[in-house]
Amino acid sequence: MTTTSSSRSGARIERLALSRFTTLGVGGPAEVWFVSDHAQLHEAMQAPYRILGGGSNLVIADDGVPERVIRLTGALAERDLTPDPELSDEEQLVTGWVGGGVPLPGLIRTLQKLGLSNLEGTVGIPAQVGGAVWMNAGTRYGEMFDGLHSLEIVTPGEVRVVTPDDLPWGYRDSGIPRGHIVTRVRLKLRRSTPQEVLEKMTLADTARKGQPKMKTPGCAFKNPGGVSAGRLIDEAGLKGTRVGQALIAPEHANFIVNLGGAAAADVHALLDLIRGRVGLPLELEYELWPEAPLAGLAADGSGTGGEQRAASTGTL
Ligand code: FAD
Ligand code: EPU
Repeated sequence: MTTTSSSRSGARIERLALSRFTTLGVGGPAEVWFVSDHAQLHEAMQAPYRILGGGSNLVIADDGVPERVIRLTGALAERDLTPDPELSDEEQLVTGWVGGGVPLPGLIRTLQKLGLSNLEGTVGIPAQVGGAVWMNAGTRYGEMFDGLHSLEIVTPGEVRVVTPDDLPWGYRDSGIPRGHIVTRVRLKLRRSTPQEVLEKMTLADTARKGQPKMKTPGCAFKNPGGVSAGRLIDEAGLKGTRVGQALIAPEHANFIVNLGGAAAADVHALLDLIRGRVGLPLELEYELWPEAPLAGLAADGSGTGGEQRAASTGTL
């Protein structure tokens, strides 16, 4: 049975299994704070916390996590695509605020219908805007930072607005320290036509046709130096390897899928196995909650799991 309560500022608090929020369908219980404005967020950040987006890059322990888990809802999951008259012209449009809790797929569909370009390369990424920005999610057809004008970032006690130029962003990395919450962003979009945006979206979508359709957190490892980690894992002969109910997808070797009832430990075991067998150091793309050291060593002796951006105390 779930118990629901309210915080002083009105945030809804529920103890819930996190598996319901993850695309892998794995994750034990935690106290979830549904925050719908800045006052509630500020209160939620007064004790150790984690921020949960679309749960599409997470492997969460079956015991759950002891920290508060924050979800952005209400005003922090709304979008205002009205052009800012000061910053928009015939070629470029800068929007109002788009909440970190907004689901990315719906936003991308809307931008296509409006004929607004720059973010269509991220089609098919089942994230929330905040999580996608934090990871700089993308494909070879484009990434989140292609369409960002500015970002509002909240830390305990501080709200800051920064621009992409203020951040050391790169492939699958915004440079924003862990624990800094992307509450909302303003988008910088090129005026195009629905047809042109659709054509680009279709290209990006076609590139995913070979990806598995089962429960998964997407690609397990980043591509080292532009080489497909999937290809390396495939060449190591690991496609179809199974531990418990977790499987290295036969369709694409960089995806681990849940056959039904997988435990987080099954996924960890596969990650270890891959690292032990691929002859190059592989950097984890999945995020493990709580941070679980991986036993497998990469070829250069690195890769014990310590590479996850660790502290919630880093600064911009
Ligand atoms: P979560 O998984 O909930 O969290 C991931 C990290 O982001 C955590 O550290 C979390 O604390 C942090 N975070 C979440 N919200 C915020 C916020 N508001 N502020 C600050 N930090 C936050 N990724 C790609 O890059 N390209 C792809 O093509 C791609 N394809 C995928 C396909 C599938 C089927 C799946 C399941 C995943 C895919 N992914 C892909 C991986 C995943 O969607 C991305 O990593 C995405 O950025 C995760 O966003 P999220 O909102 O789900 O974040
Ligand atoms: N390949 C294999 N075997 C495999 C997988 C891939 O030989 O098991 C080969 C393919 O045949 C192709 C090459 O490797 O020649 C590249 O494969 P793919 O086009 O699938 O791209 P990728 O580099 O493996 C990247 C991203 C995906 C993104 C796709 C499409 C990373 C880690 N992965 O995969 O992102 O969707 O391109 O643009 O950057 C994610 O990050 O979670 C993710 C899914």
